[in-house]
Amino acid sequence: MSDQRPVGVFDSGLGGLTVLREITRQLPQEQCMYLADSREAPYGNKSVPALQERCEQVTAFLIDQGAKTIVVACNTASVTALAYLRGRFTIPFVGIVPAVKPAAMMTHTGTVGVLVTSATAQSDSLAQLIASYSHGSQMILQECPELVALVEHGQLKGPEVENSLRLEVGPLVARGADILVLGCTHLPFLSEAIGHVAGPAVRLIDPAEAVVRHLGHVLQEHDLLNRGAGAPPRYFTTGDPEEFQLRLGQLLDEPLAEVAHVEL
Ligand code: DGL
Repeated sequence: MSDQRPVGVFDSGLGGLTVLREITRQLPQEQCMYLADSREAPYGNKSVPALQERCEQVTAFLIDQGAKTIVVACNTASVTALAYLRGRFTIPFVGIVPAVKPAAMMTHTGTVGVLVTSATAQSDSLAQLIASYSHGSQMILQECPELVALVEHGQLKGPEVENSLRLEVGPLVARGADILVLGCTHLPFLSEAIGHVAGPAVRLIDPAEAVVRHLGHVLQEHDLLNRGAGAPPRYFTTGDPEEFQLRLGQLLDEPLAEVAHVEL
């Protein structure tokens, strides 16, 4: 059996594109639909009920467009709304959560910096992950709203980026962190700049590769893999389609991608 229906992927804005590019790399035969909920960005300062309600609307839209599975390409939405979504829809969901478990296994100093949004930092799911998997390592949570905003504005390097990084990443390194968990999907776009400020002794963990490997297993398990040829992603935004197209050119080298505006 081959299932040609698309994989639905969403985030508050551009961050989930770091997961989308990994899906395209690992599962090139799958077609994706990406929804950037830019009108509601950032998700990181919303309440749990507001996030659950919004994620339900976004998911319903993607299912309506024919999605066979949903990738919640946002740590904030996953830690606050994934269980809720699974309770409301029958199709499979794949989420992304801060990579606390591998970080605890990799650290030599016993100190890990976890870069997240405010809503992720306050979530029960992250508290549970840390309680179950930190194995005595110290997990220092650092909120990074500035970094999310920089990526949304397409600023990936330069003095303003370095200043924000010195404020949001510098203290983690100063306290001995040798691993930084990129616990927000916007952050891999800043990997180079983060590495520059953190220095060569600090390793960054982006869970996208593991998440997409898991997506492959989920598709296989539910007999949802597309065994035919793939097609380029379809893009939707609740914000400004021209601005999104500009960022697609900059971040994914897809300047000609078509972007549709949706009212949700
Ligand atoms: N990209 C999102 C995450 O992974 C959230 C950014 C935001 O909208 O605050 O958490």
